[in-house]
Amino acid sequence: MLSNKDFDLWSDNYDQSVELSDEENIYPFAGYKKLINTIFNTIIENNWIDILDVGIGTGILSSGLYNNGCKITGIDFSGEMLKICKAKMPLARLFQYDFTEGLPEDINKEKFDCIVSTYAMHHLSDDAKIEFIEKLIKILNNKGSIIIGDIGFETREEFIRCKTLVNDIWDDDECYYIYDEIKNKFTEEYKITYNQISICAGIIKINK
Ligand SMILES: C[S@@+](CC[C@H](N)C(=O)[O-])C[C@H]1O[C@@H](n2cnc3c(N)ncnc32)[C@H](O)[C@@H]1O
Repeated sequence: MLSNKDFDLWSDNYDQSVELSDEENIYPFAGYKKLINTIFNTIIENNWIDILDVGIGTGILSSGLYNNGCKITGIDFSGEMLKICKAKMPLARLFQYDFTEGLPEDINKEKFDCIVSTYAMHHLSDDAKIEFIEKLIKILNNKGSIIIGDIGFETREEFIRCKTLVNDIWDDDECYYIYDEIKNKFTEEYKITYNQISICAGIIKINK
């Protein structure tokens, strides 16, 4: 599992490495741009303003939203990722915080129109994901959504097909979303949808 120091070291060439993996249409970032654009368009179409980005990284998604008038709050445990983020969005509120510890106290008192997280929460086990998402739901406005874009698959068969295809470069330490399995772990009061974006990327949307 990558630590905050590993992400510090990755921060300088993060944007280029993601773009390259996307352009070559290979795991792990195949479909990255499409995924980011899909989430961006959903947020703009819904006129959501107050956005929380969990594992904001260098702010590729949130800086576009910021430039379109959204108020951005971000959490990340890498100080170097946050420095790049701050340079793109001087007025964003950024918290250096490890989300395996939950949420910063200030954020727990607030409500957001949309909570996004892209390529960050696969560092949590499925049970830890659900526990964390329950915390996020508490700080979501009634008409808002949680949108998670990440390495994901509709079924375990699709997961195995991708793993077999990429073989050596597959990261067994990470815990990817398998929609068919994770959707059953939520209580029935939530509406969960899934959109497969590429061979290895998908978007899970959770509404109250
Ligand atoms: C692969 S990057 C994704 C960044 C950005 N969301 C994107 O889509 O380009 C994962 C980010 O999540 C952050 N991250 C990973 N685990 C974290 C944790 N436990 N607490 C806070 N941030 C974490 C990393 O520092 C990194 O910036």
